[in-house]
Amino acid sequence: MQQNYNRLTSITFEALKQIVGQDFISTDKEQLEKYGQDETEDFVFYADVVVKPQTTEQVSAIARLCYEHQIPLTTRGAGTGLSGGALPVKGGLLLSTEKLNRILDIDTRNLQATVEPGVINYVFQEEVKKLGLFYPPDPASWGSCSLGGNIAHSSGGPKAVKYGTTRDYVLNLEVVLANGDIIWTGANTLKYSTGYNLTHLMIGSEGTLGIVTKIVFKLIPLPKHDLLMLVPFKSAEKACEAVGATFRAGITPSAMEFMERDAIDWSIKYAGEVNFEIKQDWEALLLVEVDGNNLDVLMQDCETISGIMQEHECDEILFAEGAEQKNALWKIRRKVGEAVKSNSVYKEEDTVVKRAELPALLKGVKAIGRKYGFTSVCYGHAGDGNLHVNIIKGDLSDAAWENDLPQGITEIFQLCKSLGGTISGEHGIGLVQQHYLPLVFPDYQLTLLRNIKKAFDPKVILNPGKLLLDGII
Ligand code: LAC
Ligand code: ZN
Repeated sequence: MQQNYNRLTSITFEALKQIVGQDFISTDKEQLEKYGQDETEDFVFYADVVVKPQTTEQVSAIARLCYEHQIPLTTRGAGTGLSGGALPVKGGLLLSTEKLNRILDIDTRNLQATVEPGVINYVFQEEVKKLGLFYPPDPASWGSCSLGGNIAHSSGGPKAVKYGTTRDYVLNLEVVLANGDIIWTGANTLKYSTGYNLTHLMIGSEGTLGIVTKIVFKLIPLPKHDLLMLVPFKSAEKACEAVGATFRAGITPSAMEFMERDAIDWSIKYAGEVNFEIKQDWEALLLVEVDGNNLDVLMQDCETISGIMQEHECDEILFAEGAEQKNALWKIRRKVGEAVKSNSVYKEEDTVVKRAELPALLKGVKAIGRKYGFTSVCYGHAGDGNLHVNIIKGDLSDAAWENDLPQGITEIFQLCKSLGGTISGEHGIGLVQQHYLPLVFPDYQLTLLRNIKKAFDPKVILNPGKLLLDGII
């Protein structure tokens, strides 16, 4: 069933003004353009209005209004998403969470914190760090992405390999439902066996089931030390093989990141020089970090890791010296995505497979590229089997890009599935991957997902056109 939506009228516009106040609402073309984009390719979609509520009650009143008048309501965090999840593709109302940006409580007695969704990931990390606490999920965009956006996709980041993704730190959520009702999804407890787990249903639902207005996070003690190694390889496949071997040897690094040659070169060009030589014959790098409280144990772990890397024919390993060098290396890694975007038209595929299948994934992606005539820049969270495949338009014709590439992407995702994986590890489905969902779910399972959507959002007003194909329920 295709939904028909209403535009904002002078009546609904006046009502919105009453709810949030004149200063927190905009129909200015520049604003609509700014809020009509995220980091996904070069998409722009125009909402009719951008609204910036400051309280849960305001969010509830906005939802009630949209529900009553059947107006599309797309929630946006900081707009750093890579699957188009925050784009207002059906127009209507764009709800920005940027003014819901308070850290409400850090409970050092229970090791948990309550925050609003607009808080920036890094700001939160720094605040809890001051108290000796740790919130591990650290997407590459941590300096600008919002915690609400992280909930929308269960975002990961380098630390996920040891500490898990956003999902693993959420205890409870305050959510405004489509009709404006306000619920808490669970309890602020470390255990929960009280029926259907709505907290985990909301996480990863990309604003299609409700609007998160408060988050209760679990925190852990901050590890005292970390050590970082840069491991170069002449063979990218050997680098990938070394990843599985490390875990099989009983080591769980706190980060195990992979960058192939173009990713390294492009990022250095974009983000700044490094104070060591990148040798001609390096095909890939692993960035391996260990953390914990006992420095001697960490040194031993590094020795074990070095041995494994050498068995996989690595070149000379660089141990990062001091915070400055660590930060410089992390900057190169975190800036790869931006570097690729600044360099070429591209598409980002967030492939994920069982960890030990990573070498097969990389090899397969390159073979599919040769078949369809595209090059790719691959990098990502190797320890999680999560490889970001950035497909570069390069010299491909517009026709090949539009018409043939989707078949190439289909083959990449089929490969993921055959390697025990799926079509997104941390970037979500959003706008750009929804057509590929049938590759991983049978029809009857998609129907089940649509029925869940229908139960939460019977008028299909919440982030319409995302996740499940085009508002069809
Ligand atoms: C990264 C983002 C793209 O890992 O997820 O750099
Ligand atoms: Zn990533």
